[in-house]
Amino acid sequence: MTREDVVGRANVEDTPELLQYYDELSGHHTGALWTVANKIEPWEPQSQSVPVLWRYQDLRGKVLRSVELVTPEKAGRRVIYFNNPGRTDVSAAVGWIYAGLQVMHPGEKATAHRHSASAIRFIMEGTGAYTVVDGHKMTLGRNDFVLTPNGTWHEHAVEDTGTPCIWQDGLDIPFVNAMEANFFEVHPDLSEPVAYPVDDMSKTWGNPGLTPGGGTWDKGYSPMFKYEWGRTYEALQAYAASAEPSPFDGTLMEYVNPINNGPVMKTLGASMQLLAPGMQTKAHRHTGSYLYQVVKGSGYSVINGQRFDWTERDTFCVPSWAWHEHGNTSDRDDAVLFCLNDLPVIRAMGLYREEALGDNGGHQLTADQGRI
Ligand SMILES: [Fe+2]
Ligand SMILES: [Fe+2]
Repeated sequence: MTREDVVGRANVEDTPELLQYYDELSGHHTGALWTVANKIEPWEPQSQSVPVLWRYQDLRGKVLRSVELVTPEKAGRRVIYFNNPGRTDVSAAVGWIYAGLQVMHPGEKATAHRHSASAIRFIMEGTGAYTVVDGHKMTLGRNDFVLTPNGTWHEHAVEDTGTPCIWQDGLDIPFVNAMEANFFEVHPDLSEPVAYPVDDMSKTWGNPGLTPGGGTWDKGYSPMFKYEWGRTYEALQAYAASAEPSPFDGTLMEYVNPINNGPVMKTLGASMQLLAPGMQTKAHRHTGSYLYQVVKGSGYSVINGQRFDWTERDTFCVPSWAWHEHGNTSDRDDAVLFCLNDLPVIRAMGLYREEALGDNGGHQLTADQGRI
């Protein structure tokens, strides 16, 4: 029992009589709320996830090694997943987000399947990767990302003419499992036919400021499916040149569903942010879980007082309500961070809250109290 000597909080001393009473209650599959109230209703969010930096230079060789050890047929998917050490109950990178690094060689193909979990795929290296979602084939290059929304048939492959590809998968598996709503099906034909012109969805729905005449779409996720790096980076640079950056995020743009400007999928959101050379953001914290991938450049993030130095292709997480600030250590090149998050869920449920750090000029002190 966690007791707190504060008015309005549970503060009941154990007595032999009460302990006997608790025993009796548990025999009836019940319990006294005051024995758990302070734990289940914390004053503020208590993330079980801890901040982690996964260095690509440590992981790349391990990911490639899986190609020698298991076949895609036997493994289903060759993925090395991020396992947050604070989580023992579920396989999660942070919060209720699962993520991992998948490798595929030219000519390989994963079995077509569908599930209740929603997914994104962010291409890290290699050429010739493609994904088919409900008959729409998307060719994928470095730093492109593609959606495989819940319930859609999808399969991933690398063309014979391509090179070994590594990408980051990100899914809401822990969340959907927590909701006890996850289904998984293998396609009856193990593969799905391509039924439309290649890249039709991004060519139809991905034109800035333009929507197709007569185009209709009523599904709960973006019809764009693929978001290309070239256009994203161009947009970030244009925005950065035209508006003051956010003190907390630099120049940040959210990926949206072009139908309603909402998130790309109902449970997972994504953004890309640019930190100008030498930029140091101020610290803030907010609800929601965030998994970052360094797309370009080098710098650092201070998360709950701990500094993590990152470089291109590293992945790191910011748990819910953790203080965080970012810095670009180059005085010449910009740094760009891709972020996968659960903001659509947090916002839809009215759970979003944000706070800026007021002390020390808006910057955290690291554990040794040195300047960041
Ligand atoms: Fe899948
Ligand atoms: Fe933030």
